[in-house]
Amino acid sequence: MTLLAPAKVNLTLEVIGKRADGYHELRTVFQAVDLFDTLRFESSSQLTLSVAGEAPPDDDNLVLKAARALRAHATLGTEPGVAIQLTKRIPTGAGLGGGSSDAAATLMALDRLWNTDLSPQQLQHIARDLGADVPFFLNGGTALGTGRGDQITPVHGAPPMWFVIAMPPYSLPAKTARIFRGLRADKYTDGAITGELVRQLTAGEHPSVDGCYNGLQAAAYREFGELAGYVADLRRASGREWVLSGAGPACFTITESEDESEEVKRRLENRSGMSFVAHACGGIVSWNPSPRFPHERA
Ligand code: C5P
Repeated sequence: MTLLAPAKVNLTLEVIGKRADGYHELRTVFQAVDLFDTLRFESSSQLTLSVAGEAPPDDDNLVLKAARALRAHATLGTEPGVAIQLTKRIPTGAGLGGGSSDAAATLMALDRLWNTDLSPQQLQHIARDLGADVPFFLNGGTALGTGRGDQITPVHGAPPMWFVIAMPPYSLPAKTARIFRGLRADKYTDGAITGELVRQLTAGEHPSVDGCYNGLQAAAYREFGELAGYVADLRRASGREWVLSGAGPACFTITESEDESEEVKRRLENRSGMSFVAHACGGIVSWNPSPRFPHERA
């Protein structure tokens, strides 16, 4: 079985306040985009992972964590194995959700291959324990995230959207914890920006990048000074606004068409780092379509 696992961008990410459990309460709109990792699953007596491309070491890899979590929660006669081949295309540690998407794809594939008896609610629960972004990828598409971003409500009616995603040539060590720690309460917002974007998308209106927002951006600039210079350079080169995805450092802008996105990407040529043209998409796609994967596109 082969699955394609998409990246995401956060069209908005608002921090509402601090929670009693130490995490921050979020309002975010996730959008899946067609930049994919590939995961191939083959029957095996052992649980193994081989990786082509750049990915975290095995102990930190969410694919193996997802497989072990599923094995621990499902009632399975013997301890089943699987040989997983992961081909990475989504930059890691980027804010594009690559590891979370790989984890969600692993849950979906092994739920089927191992014939688990888990309900969709139980899968959601396992996904949430793996990471706040993982539940989104079980559904994909466009969705509102509340709580830690792990309570998912699908948003229907969004129009086709094109993006350019830019990734600077460096990663930010321990970025999420550092950025949240450096966040000032005056950057808390009340969810109105996200509410307005959900209203627009539901009405089929094409959002502008000016309606997108990331409440972590100022703290990210403070914590990682090079990021502010990088985004300023993107603005100068493209003549348009860029927004951080998740805790970064990848940034995105929205355009009306593939041609416009290609033109923006051309303007970024000769800069260090990477840029991608991407289209809003549905979610995890099965290479061999089957009705078990509701968001697949043939
Ligand atoms: O999700 P992850 O474990 O990478 O988050 C790292 C840290 O970022 C958390 O331990 C927490 O301190 C902070 N965080 C937060 N609120 C969130 C997500 C993460 O405060 N919604």
